[in-house]
Amino acid sequence: MRVPSIREIRTGGRTVFLRADLNVPVENGVVMDESRIIATLPTLRHVLDQGSPVVLASHLGRPRGAPDQKYTMAPVAEKLSEILEDYEVLFIDRTIGPRVEAMAMGLCPGQVLVIENLRFHPGEEKNDREFALDLAKLAHIYVNDAFGTCHREHASTAGVPAAMGGGYTGLLVEKELEAFGRMVTHPRKPFTVLMGGAKVSDKVAVIAHVLPKLDNLLIGGAMAFTFIRSRGVATGRSLVEEDRIETAGEIMRAAEKAGVNLVLPVDFVCSQSPDGPPVTVPWNRIPEDMAGYDIGPESVELFRDVLMKSGTIVWNGPMGLFEVEPFDAATREIALILGDATSGGAITIVGGGDSLRAVTEAGALEKVTHASTGGGASLELLQGNELPALGHIAVKGLRPLMGANWKMNGTRQGALDFLDDMMLGNSMHFGADVVLFPPFTLIGGLSAAAEDAGVRLGGQDIHWEPGGAFTGEVSPGMLLEAGCSWFLAGHSERRHIFGETDAVVARKLQAGIAAGLKGILCVGETLAQRESGNTAIVVGKQVEAALHGISGADPSNLVVAYEPVWAIGTGKNATPEEAQKMHVFIRERIGVILGKDFAEEVRIIYGGSVTPGNSGGILSQPDVNGALVGGASLGSESFLDILASL
Ligand code: 13P
Repeated sequence: MRVPSIREIRTGGRTVFLRADLNVPVENGVVMDESRIIATLPTLRHVLDQGSPVVLASHLGRPRGAPDQKYTMAPVAEKLSEILEDYEVLFIDRTIGPRVEAMAMGLCPGQVLVIENLRFHPGEEKNDREFALDLAKLAHIYVNDAFGTCHREHASTAGVPAAMGGGYTGLLVEKELEAFGRMVTHPRKPFTVLMGGAKVSDKVAVIAHVLPKLDNLLIGGAMAFTFIRSRGVATGRSLVEEDRIETAGEIMRAAEKAGVNLVLPVDFVCSQSPDGPPVTVPWNRIPEDMAGYDIGPESVELFRDVLMKSGTIVWNGPMGLFEVEPFDAATREIALILGDATSGGAITIVGGGDSLRAVTEAGALEKVTHASTGGGASLELLQGNELPALGHIAVKGLRPLMGANWKMNGTRQGALDFLDDMMLGNSMHFGADVVLFPPFTLIGGLSAAAEDAGVRLGGQDIHWEPGGAFTGEVSPGMLLEAGCSWFLAGHSERRHIFGETDAVVARKLQAGIAAGLKGILCVGETLAQRESGNTAIVVGKQVEAALHGISGADPSNLVVAYEPVWAIGTGKNATPEEAQKMHVFIRERIGVILGKDFAEEVRIIYGGSVTPGNSGGILSQPDVNGALVGGASLGSESFLDILASL
C-alpha cells in the first residue's frame, strides 16, 4: 500500500481538512500536556506556510456521540493559538452545519479553524456517510496526521477521504510509517525487540511476525512469568496468563528453531503486595506467597549487554509495575539504556504509553530515534498489518519517476523558464517524482527554482572518485553541493560514444549511492544486438554487472531505466507490450540479485523517443513506473503533456 504524503503536493492556497490527534488531557479547561499539539505542528506549519487555510479536526476523550462540555475542543484551540503565534487560530463550537461551512469557506491564508470535537456526533465512530459528507464540504484537500486513530475507520479517518476522492498523510503519520516500515522490515542488525507489559496475548501476533527477522528477543514485564511457567517453574503469586502458557512455550521453541536469542529475566523484585517491602530473588526462587512486580538489577544488566550491541531496537511495554515505586526502577533504567544505545549509533523505536512515559521522564525522549504517538496503531504495523484508515488515501502501484534528460542542450534561462512552467503546471499534482537532468554548468543556479517547483535535480553523469586529477569529471560530492539528489549512470550515450564499460558503470553507481545520491541505472540493447536476438543476454548482463555486490541500495535510492539504444532520439520506440515484457525481465533479474522484496518495490522506467503521443500507452503498463524523456522534455509543454498521461 502506497500512501502519498502532503510533501508530494503544493496545496496552492486551497483549504486543507487536517485530521489530527489532539486528544490531550484537559483539566478544568486547561490543557495539561501539549505534546500531541506539538507533534502535529510540522504538518500544520507545512500547509500554512504554503498559504493554505486549515480546518483542524480531532476527537477528545470519550463523549459517546453527544456534546459534553467536559470534552470541548475550546481549550485545545486556545493552547494552539498560544503556540502558533504567527498564525491566527479560530474556534467554532460546532462540528458540522451551515455556520461551520460558511466559516470554513471564508478562511483566509494563515488562518486555522478548530472545529468542535468530532465525537460529539454519533456519526463519527460509526463512520456515518452523511456526517462524513458534511465534513468533506469544509475543505478541498484531505490530510490525515492522526496516527493514533489510523487503526480505526471512523468518519474523519475513512468516510471523509473517501468522499473527497483520497488525500495525503501528514508529516507525523509519514514519520511513523517510515519508522515502522523500513526500519523494521530492513533493520540494521543485530535487531532486538524488547517486549514488556502484563500480557502475552497482546503481543503474540507481533512476536510471531517479527521473530524471523530478529537476532534477540528480550522479554520483561509480567508477561515473563507466563514464559517461565511454560518451563515448568513456579512463579509464586505473580501474574500469569494460564491460557497462554502453551503459547509462550511455542514462542520459545520457535525462537530456538529460528536461532533467535530469547532472553528472559534472571531475577525479580518481589513482594507480598504492591505496597509491601520489596525483596530481590533469582527467577526460579520466587516465594510462594509473593508476586514479582519488576525485573531485578541482574536482568537489567543482562538486557543492557544485548541492547548496547544492537543495531536496531524496538521497545514496547514496561518492565514492571511502573505506576508504583520502587517497581518502576527497571523500566526507568531501560529508558536510559535506550538513550545510550541511540547515542552509540543504534536505531531505537519506542511505543506504548508506559514505555513512552519512562523515556520522557528519564530525559531520553530527545535521544531515541523514534517515539511513537500511537500504541494500537504501532502494534498493528509491527504485526505487518496495514492501517485501515490509510487504505482510503492509498494509491495503486509505485510512485512514478519522470525524468527530463536534457543531455548537452539548454540554457540557464531556458531551465529557469522550464521550472517556472513546472510550478505553474503543478507538475507535483501528477503524483510523480519529477527530476530534471540539466548540463552540469546549469545545476548550481537552479536549486531555488527547482525547490519552488517541487522538481528534483540530477547529474547526467558522475565520477566514482571524491576528487583528484580527473580532468572533465564531476564527483558525487560536487553534485550534492550543487543541489542534486539524483544522477544517471550508464546512459547508452556514455556507453557507446564514450566507451564506458559495465565495470565503469558499476563503480559510478556504487559511488553515487554511497555518497547519498539516488541513482538511475540505464540499460538497453543496440539494434544489432536486438536483431541478433541477444536483447535479454545484453540487458541481463548490464543489470547483473551494475547491481551485483552493490551496497547501500534500497528501492528509494535506486531506479533502473530501460532505454533501448535503437529507440533513443530515433522516433522509434518499443511498443507498450515490448516495454512491459522487458521490464518484467529486468525485475526478475533484480530479484535474483537483490531479493524479491527489493525487486517488487524498485521503479523501472522506460526511455527512448517518449512523446505525448505515445506516453499514455507505455506508462499504463503495470511494470513501467515512469519515463526518462530526452527530446520531448526540452519543451515544458510537451513534458507536462507527458506527465498528464500518467
Ligand atoms: P529521447 O527521448 O530523445 O529518445 O531520449 C531518451 C533518453 O536518452 C533519455 O535518457
